[in-house]
Amino acid sequence: MEAATKNDSVISHPDFLGDSFHIQTQVRLVFGCGKLTSLGQLATELRGRRVLLVTDRGIVEAGHVHHAVASLEQANLEVSVFDQVCENPTTADVSACVAAAQSHGADILVGLGGGSSMDTAKGCNFILTNGGEMKDYWGIGKASKPMLPLIAIPTTAGTGSECQSFALIADEKTHQKMACGDPKAAAAIAILDPELTLSQPRRVTACTGVDALSHALESAVSLKRNRYSWLHSNEATRLILHALPAVLKDPDDLDARGKMLLGAALAGIAIENSMLGAAHAAANPLTAQFNVIHGTAVGMMLPHVMRRNATLEAVSTAYADLAKTCHLTTSEDVTKGAESLIHGVECLLKEAGIPNRLPEQGVQVENLQALASSAAQQWTGRFNPVPLGEGDFLTLYQQAM
Ligand SMILES: [Fe+2]
Repeated sequence: MEAATKNDSVISHPDFLGDSFHIQTQVRLVFGCGKLTSLGQLATELRGRRVLLVTDRGIVEAGHVHHAVASLEQANLEVSVFDQVCENPTTADVSACVAAAQSHGADILVGLGGGSSMDTAKGCNFILTNGGEMKDYWGIGKASKPMLPLIAIPTTAGTGSECQSFALIADEKTHQKMACGDPKAAAAIAILDPELTLSQPRRVTACTGVDALSHALESAVSLKRNRYSWLHSNEATRLILHALPAVLKDPDDLDARGKMLLGAALAGIAIENSMLGAAHAAANPLTAQFNVIHGTAVGMMLPHVMRRNATLEAVSTAYADLAKTCHLTTSEDVTKGAESLIHGVECLLKEAGIPNRLPEQGVQVENLQALASSAAQQWTGRFNPVPLGEGDFLTLYQQAM
């Protein structure tokens, strides 16, 4: 597990937004349909001359790489494409990307695709500029030298990686996921072009959208939340709860696609400033041990974690606020308000086709103890508003059976 400072404070009052905080606001957001065409101009503004575009084969086949390269070449930049990004990138994937960047003499990186493309670009940036291995950067702020400018261009509305300074890279041998974060690793610019998300299949739209929703909802009540992150969690929840059903119904609804993309990015900013919680802690072992897709795993655990967290008055008040913002309730009763938010999330998960029973994912009763043991060790769980131990995670998994 990553060594990190544990925040042991417990929320004890409904208004726990008054604490001091330190915010990261380094990412410049460029939002709008067709904004991919401004890539060349933006790369020039960052003084890039030799671009390594980091992406995967699916994004090449969707035609997005062709348009990105055209924009870069129109600005007279030298472009090389690394299209070997894999899902859940490993240290070996990062090494291959570093070799491509060195061979091209890259002085700027572009990450085009889902979270894996952006993570690979960020991981490459660490090694290319600071040397060593990914494990040297496991944790926060371990890179001492300046890094190359990065432009992040998401093609899914999900991870929010475009607004975060962390690269999630798995060790090639142990498969341990390492969260390597440094303010210097964050993208200088994120291009949010809703048209790029039209190419996603429904299943990807659903799973990534549910992941983005969970980012908004977990960051909204985490121990590290503050006024700044709350603004982003709140708006992200509002956008995603309204837009996800719309894109599931009509995948070509560009207005809703735009709201999803912006919601995912805002949730990414919220995470950067307030971290996540127990739904992600419970989801990670399901992905590691049973190959459950991340968005599915988080979605399956989210309502159970929300109900557990709502036992805390401060969280229940926050949920009730969100329910009102999202027009899910008009009640002034906090308990009813919180429950209406959780019920709204459950309805959306059903609409998105997220299963709600762990046995459907191959999980048996005898597996729960090992899952709970792993979940209790997840770093992300330390930021959950209600401190949860192994026994608590076991109960959550039992509820999801
Ligand atoms: Fe997530």
